[in-house]
Amino acid sequence: MIIAIDGPAGAGKSTVARELSKRLNYKYLDTGAMYRAITFELINRKLEDSEDLEKVFKEIIDSIELDFVDGDIVLNGRILTKEIREPIIDKHVSKAASSKVVRSFLSSEQRKLAINSPNTILEGRDTTTVVCPDAQVKIFLTASLDERARRRYKELLKKDIKIDFEEVKRQIEKRDKSDTTREIGPLKVAEDAVVIDSTEKDVEWVVDKIFSLVRNKRKQL
Ligand code: DC
Repeated sequence: MIIAIDGPAGAGKSTVARELSKRLNYKYLDTGAMYRAITFELINRKLEDSEDLEKVFKEIIDSIELDFVDGDIVLNGRILTKEIREPIIDKHVSKAASSKVVRSFLSSEQRKLAINSPNTILEGRDTTTVVCPDAQVKIFLTASLDERARRRYKELLKKDIKIDFEEVKRQIEKRDKSDTTREIGPLKVAEDAVVIDSTEKDVEWVVDKIFSLVRNKRKQL
């Protein structure tokens, strides 16, 4: 069984996917971590300001090995749990996310990783539309812009990063716009996805809801 969780920034996809994978004992595939790892390598090679990013990304893809060990991303044998969450990665990750070369490589790698395991939960923006449109359970997890900005703001405060709330909201709005209008793999609701709005709901409520959808689906199979 494949469960794919799609949706905009700050909707709670990773938290929900991680919890659900523990509860169901499924493999958890954080597709965003792969875009982040490629961005890490781009910065590591000091090529983030290159004029020909497609060429650079092609070289990176041809010379790296990406894997997951216990849910953590591993690049060329190095575990990159913390490094990929640094603000510098946030700043440049849209370069990898909007690259044709990167998207096509990662989509196919993600699909392979998902289907090679008996039960997988994969999470990320395009998992229900591009990577696994044939997943048995497809979720589009969303929340209001205000709520998503509040969650992000809290996360940043926890990390001692000082930023104005309205600025966080503007950044999320900007990211929504670029995600939905992107030429390849744009954020959109798959035809047969179940839309779950997590505004005013906690993680447990969302996990319970998906858990019961999975149970019903299993009965039908
Ligand atoms: O979910 P995240 O913040 O870790 O994702 C990092 C970036 O990668 C973000 O800009 C969205 C992008 N992404 C994507 O375009 N497609 C995916 N399947 C997963 C992430």
